[in-house]
This record gives sequence, C-alpha cells and structure tokens, in this order.
Amino acid sequence: MKMAKQKVWVSRPLFPEVLARLAEYFEVEAEAHEGKRTPAQLKAKLADVDAAVVGLSERVNAAVLEGNQRLKIVANLGVGYNNLDLDALSRAGILASNTPDVLNESVADYAWALMLAAARRMGAAERWLRAGQWQGSATRFDDWLGVDVHGKTLGILGMGRIGQAIARRAAGFNMRVIYHNRSRLPESIEREYRASLVDKASLLSQADHLILVLPYTPENHYALGAAELAQMKPSAVLVNVARGGIVDDAALAVALREGRLGAAALDVFEGEPAVHPDLLGLENALLSPHIASASEDTRRAMAHLAADNVIAALGHGARAGQPPTALNPAVMAAWSSRTRA
Ligand code: GLV
Repeated sequence: MKMAKQKVWVSRPLFPEVLARLAEYFEVEAEAHEGKRTPAQLKAKLADVDAAVVGLSERVNAAVLEGNQRLKIVANLGVGYNNLDLDALSRAGILASNTPDVLNESVADYAWALMLAAARRMGAAERWLRAGQWQGSATRFDDWLGVDVHGKTLGILGMGRIGQAIARRAAGFNMRVIYHNRSRLPESIEREYRASLVDKASLLSQADHLILVLPYTPENHYALGAAELAQMKPSAVLVNVARGGIVDDAALAVALREGRLGAAALDVFEGEPAVHPDLLGLENALLSPHIASASEDTRRAMAHLAADNVIAALGHGARAGQPPTALNPAVMAAWSSRTRA
C-alpha cells in the first residue's frame, strides 16, 4: 500500500523553486496571497498538516496548538520569532525553526540605507520633487540641510550578528561606534569595529545616530519610550529595523513633531501593518513596510533555509533528522516514543 505523503502548509506566496523542492517530498498547500487568519482558521490549518512554513502574522500559541496531534515543525520565515510561543511549541513536542544569519548583511545594508536617507532627508525631498515643487531655480542653498553620517557617533542597541554587521560598515564612514548589549563583544572584535560598550544612558545621550537591532521580548517592550527618547540629542536620527513595540511610536511621533529628535527611520511598527497615524504626517519620519531583509538573494535564502528545516525535520534529504536552525531541537528526542513520530 502506498503511504500518504506528509503534508506541508505554506502560509504565504513563496518562490516557486522553493515550493518545488518541498513538493519533491511532500504534498504542499501554499497560500496564493498574504492574508491574516483568525486564530480559529490558523488552528484548523495547523491541525491538518505535518509542517507549516509561517511568517510574522501567524501567531502560533498554546490556543492554536491545542489538541494538535499531527504537526511536527513550524518553520518561521524570519530571524525574529516573537510570533511563536516557543514554550507552548516545546510543550506540545513541536519543533520550531527560524532563519538566522542568511539575512545579516542585507538587514545591515538596509539599516544603513535608512540611516543615510533619514539623515539627509531623502524621503521628504523626493516627495517635494514629485509634488512638482522644484520650480523656478535651484533649491535654496540653505535649505534641505540634513545631518552628516560620516565622522559621527553611531550607537547600536543590541549587538548580535546583525548589530555587528552594521558596526563593521561604520569604519568606511570613519564613525565612532558605541553599543549597549547584555554581553560585551570579544576585545578583538571591539578593536576591529572600533566599538565600545557603554551603558544605555550613555548610548542614548551620545549617539548621533542610533540603530535598534534587539529582539522583541517582554523586557524590551518600549525599550525606547518617552523617557529614553528624551535622553537623545535633539539632532539625533533613530533607526528601528528590529520589531514594533520596542519603540513607543506615539511618544516618538511627539518627540519628532516637537523637534526633540531630528528624524526617525522605521521599518517596523507597533501593530503593523497599521502605522501610528501621527507618524504618517511627519516629514522627519521615513517609513517602510518591514522589508529590511527583502533583497532578491536574501529572501530566497531565507525561504530555502525554512524548507531545509522542514525537509530535515520530517526525515528527508542529506540532513534528515538534523534541521539546521531549529530553536528547540531537544523536542526531537521524544518523537520516536510518541504518536506524532
Ligand atoms: C524579520 O523581521 C525577521 O525577523 O527576519
């Protein structure tokens, strides 16, 4: 008798070649559109498959896993996995994976792009030009003045692998790098990046440009709230490529409007895809729709890595049984003695 194929659900459109790889082993159901599902819809989808490839909008928690007897792995398309309740997944014996490392350089590029663009007012200038306001003569010599990036102090909050990729780029701009992190970098790396560890208050008060790259956790909620924003230089540029909820967007909008902060460039928002309406009206806020990792090469690499995890976790391919970036690999030890194995 022919064994039924294991089934994989992909919650969003994915590159055809990645779906084709999955289809070599599995029955694949891939959604044709990005879409928000209710918890009940998500629960029903997850109940019916052996693996799910999901993104940030799928909140996989104890409630949606309740009673699930089939699911073995949830592969997250992203390095940040605050959409997954890892404890609940582990308790249910379900593996989770993310996509670390393959996106470090692209996210670092994008953080720099945001910093440079916000510092030099590129969003506002482009809107002005497209609105047909560049008329009559050259722009005023004393108008459109931004702040420099080269030679300034770059602050980095969260010095993981992406933070380090951002710091490495600063040498070419002759910047001083200061960072705040739970642990100190090895001295050789600090020397290479010309980076020094400082306390959070010094980071806030000394940075000309501050880039946030820390994971979202309950402790990091509003790591940049009104009190922290008030400690920054009034000319400073704040860049968030981490997660919504790390910055208090309402407090940020007030600081930007009152000129207590120079500019902000944000790729992530509290409650995205909704954006705080006060930010939308500010010329000194540069806004983008959570695309820091979205280069052609990197998004493909992330999708392949998610597929690698699914294929290996479900016992196929050269790495069968060894998913490369599992977050809770210990759950696999119990699989052979459980019905879900
Ligand atoms: C994107 O936000 C990611 O975590 O990879």
